[in-house]
Amino acid sequence: MSLYSKIGKELFFKFDAEQAHGLSIRGLKTGLHPRFHAGFDPRLNVDIAGLNFPNPLGMAAGYDKNGDVPDALLALGFGHTEVGTVTPLPQPGNPKPRIFRLKEDRAVINRLGFNSKGHSAALGQLKKRKAKGGIVGINIGANKTSEDFGGDYVKGIEAFGALADYFTVNISSPNTPGLRALQGADPLADLLQRVDDAVEATGRETPVFLKVAPDLTEVEIDDISKAVLGSNIDALIVSNTTLSRTGLRSGSVTQEAGGLSGAPLFERSTIVLAKAHARLEGKVPLVGVGGVNSAETAWQKIEAGASLVQLYTGLIYEGPSLPKIILQGLSKQLDREGLSSIKEACGRQSDDWSKRELLLS
Ligand SMILES: Cc1cc2nc3c(=O)[nH]c(=O)nc-3n(C[C@H](O)[C@H](O)[C@H](O)COP(=O)(O)O)c2cc1C
Repeated sequence: MSLYSKIGKELFFKFDAEQAHGLSIRGLKTGLHPRFHAGFDPRLNVDIAGLNFPNPLGMAAGYDKNGDVPDALLALGFGHTEVGTVTPLPQPGNPKPRIFRLKEDRAVINRLGFNSKGHSAALGQLKKRKAKGGIVGINIGANKTSEDFGGDYVKGIEAFGALADYFTVNISSPNTPGLRALQGADPLADLLQRVDDAVEATGRETPVFLKVAPDLTEVEIDDISKAVLGSNIDALIVSNTTLSRTGLRSGSVTQEAGGLSGAPLFERSTIVLAKAHARLEGKVPLVGVGGVNSAETAWQKIEAGASLVQLYTGLIYEGPSLPKIILQGLSKQLDREGLSSIKEACGRQSDDWSKRELLLS
């Protein structure tokens, strides 16, 4: 049992979830956190989108929204970290409380609504650590009151063009009204074209990832896959949080509005991942997110078709040694199966996962 499971979690869980988040950021800033070498096993290296990831595990967007602690997160063992979502102008997000723990479900509901200090604040933070290396992606979004959501993504690319190792175009937060409509076939094709033009105008070939919701029908997965194949998108991230509340056990808190993350999201997000994997035919790599909280769940994402895996909620329940535990577990799994690279496991169970029914509720 880790120190976090024994003492840390109990302490953090005494605080409201958003206060605990603030405390954890402060804790990381002190440097007194576990450390693990991200490149400890070369068999875990992943080359996608022109980037060499030391391992497949990344910190998902939403934890380090303003770029306060990318280096501390990389020091935990993550092979990459995603800052954001960052909006062009600072905005406060929704009224508090707006993050809720569903303890019995090892899950969280959040309706933060893109609380962000804005582009210039995050830019200031990232300029300070520019020379430090490691893969730091920037997840960009739109201001709630913007009259042109697409234009806000273009602004993100202009602002961070010289700094981002990759961009994530996040059109899947359930907490900004109208945002998910950008996932529709026509708006998406239009957005991806604008994004592509903006990246070209920076004069740097920064890779662009697209992050989608798990609440998609088969037809919507088709449409998104076609739009991705017809664009220059370098990877598809599946998925953001879900609006579904199926099968939860944590009582009345499950009825809070917002996006659900953590263990109950695992199955749905993995099915959508595998369905997208089948449609993208190996032409566009996938990043699997949703409910990863162990080496086993990370391995399952990879077998379902993910080249990279990200997590957030798992860290809340398992603590800062989770990257180390997962990476050591993946390494042991490679030993057991006699594989020389994690790539060999990618997509092996994709057919099985993609045949499962998507029960949208
Ligand atoms: C409190 C919280 C805030 C989040 N904020 C963002 C965000 O700003 N942008 C984004 O793309 N995803 C955001 N997410 C979604 C995560 O990046 C991830 O896609 C989702 O939580 C599923 O992964 P998990 O089950 O490992 O948490 C947030 C998630 C949580 C729990």
